[in-house]
Amino acid sequence: MARQRWTSKLGVVLAVAGSAIGLGNFLRFPVQVAGNGGGAFMIPYFVALLLVGLPLMWIEWTIGRFGGGFGHSTAPGIFHSLWNKSRFIKYFGVIGIFGPMIIFIYYIYIESWLLGYSVFAIIGKYNSCTTEQAMTSFLQAYQGLVKNEFFSSITPAYFFFIITFIINVAIVYLGISKGIERVCEYALPVLFAFALILLIRVLTLGTPNPAKPENNIVNGLGFLWNPDWSALKSAKVWMAATGQIFFTLSCGIGMILTYASYLTKQDDVALSGLGAAATNEFAEVILGGSIVIPAAFVFFGSAGAAQIAQGGAFNLGFVTMPLVMQKIAFGNIFGFMWFMLLFLAGITSSISLAQPAVAFLEDEFNFSRRKASGVFAIITFILCQPVIFFLGRGVLDELDFWSVNVCLIVFATIEAFLFAWVFGMEKAWTELHTGSDIQIPKIYRFIIKYITPLFLLTILSVWCWQDWRSVILMQKVAPENKPFVLATRIGLVIFFVVLAYLVRRSWRQRSKKRAEGVSSDAY
Ligand code: ALA
Repeated sequence: MARQRWTSKLGVVLAVAGSAIGLGNFLRFPVQVAGNGGGAFMIPYFVALLLVGLPLMWIEWTIGRFGGGFGHSTAPGIFHSLWNKSRFIKYFGVIGIFGPMIIFIYYIYIESWLLGYSVFAIIGKYNSCTTEQAMTSFLQAYQGLVKNEFFSSITPAYFFFIITFIINVAIVYLGISKGIERVCEYALPVLFAFALILLIRVLTLGTPNPAKPENNIVNGLGFLWNPDWSALKSAKVWMAATGQIFFTLSCGIGMILTYASYLTKQDDVALSGLGAAATNEFAEVILGGSIVIPAAFVFFGSAGAAQIAQGGAFNLGFVTMPLVMQKIAFGNIFGFMWFMLLFLAGITSSISLAQPAVAFLEDEFNFSRRKASGVFAIITFILCQPVIFFLGRGVLDELDFWSVNVCLIVFATIEAFLFAWVFGMEKAWTELHTGSDIQIPKIYRFIIKYITPLFLLTILSVWCWQDWRSVILMQKVAPENKPFVLATRIGLVIFFVVLAYLVRRSWRQRSKKRAEGVSSDAY
């Protein structure tokens, strides 16, 4: 089977940027800024971007393209091609399929709410909810957590979930160039257009309430961005900034390396990695940092905005923004744009979460794309059900915790070590610059070799030291949710073991074929 390829350089940059730009940019980022020192947060944020974010971006692009040269699109094979003397490294690569799949399982459900809410915005379904309480209750009824006059069952949410699920699987089935690349080429410009329109609308809000002239947009921007320098002394703020960089760039979990594996040896990775990261940062800092919280400030004042920011990202997206939109002329249309932009941001991220698993089946088991997407669809559809039906039981949070907080940092640490220390910095630097359109400053040789792995190890150790015990003992889990959380953990372990077994099986088949002289594969 001929290897799939990207058709253009812009296409792959947009696809990686699409993977990076997601709910994190528009919801998670402003909440993090507001809660961690305002403008001062940008110092640890940019330090993390320069010392781990960008290096990981380059590492993943480079090793992805390298592994693709041996016919591998996913971490087990890519890690093995970097260190073929090790019999075990491929099992660490399992995280690069497992992590994205686990995120996919819950991310897609949240994505489907956005599709639902885009429709509700246009038809004015939540227009009668004029208070935070009413809007929260609308959301909870939609999620099937309570029943009220808006929703008496989870059926509407399930309907939008099915549509979202089919769209995702169809795109992945269409493949790299006809599916993922084409969708990102259309979705990203629309997403940026909607975000810019909303940004202009928010910046021209002026002082809507003459009785409270202090509630204006300038003060709204100041509320979010005025720096509290004392925050820089807190380790929590530095951890939060690093976590945000990982989350927003989608790096350290296996998606970018899969995308990069469809490049050819002569395709640039250095400038493309930088371009994708820069596009994401524009969407996050400029657009994400100027829409939601400043708008909330204008309508709810300083105390209201502070409370809203503390309520977290979901609250901001699904409760605060619909309330804000209702106070603006043509709010239904702006509301639609808001949810549609988030839905598009979500889709371009979720297809990148699906691709590693599909690519694994195609590369390592010779499945056709149709068969691989079909198997992926059946498995993930089944695994999505507990997320949907036990939403209030902590299942979603548990999946999020293990995939984003644990797998991501562990995987990032492994790939940084592999790249700089096992593959070797000399070869790594040459590989990174093969076909490159730019020369990366030499200081990055030092950063990638010493600082990035050290930074990652420090985070991993601090995290273990602070949280390990309470996580294992489920100290923060409500007693009634413990059986569900425990069942989720057992499920995760079983799933990981199954994936590891599949890796073992495919390698055995490969060596058997090699022994029989059927395969010329060097691995
Ligand atoms: N990078 C994606 C986001 O920011 C996952 O939502």
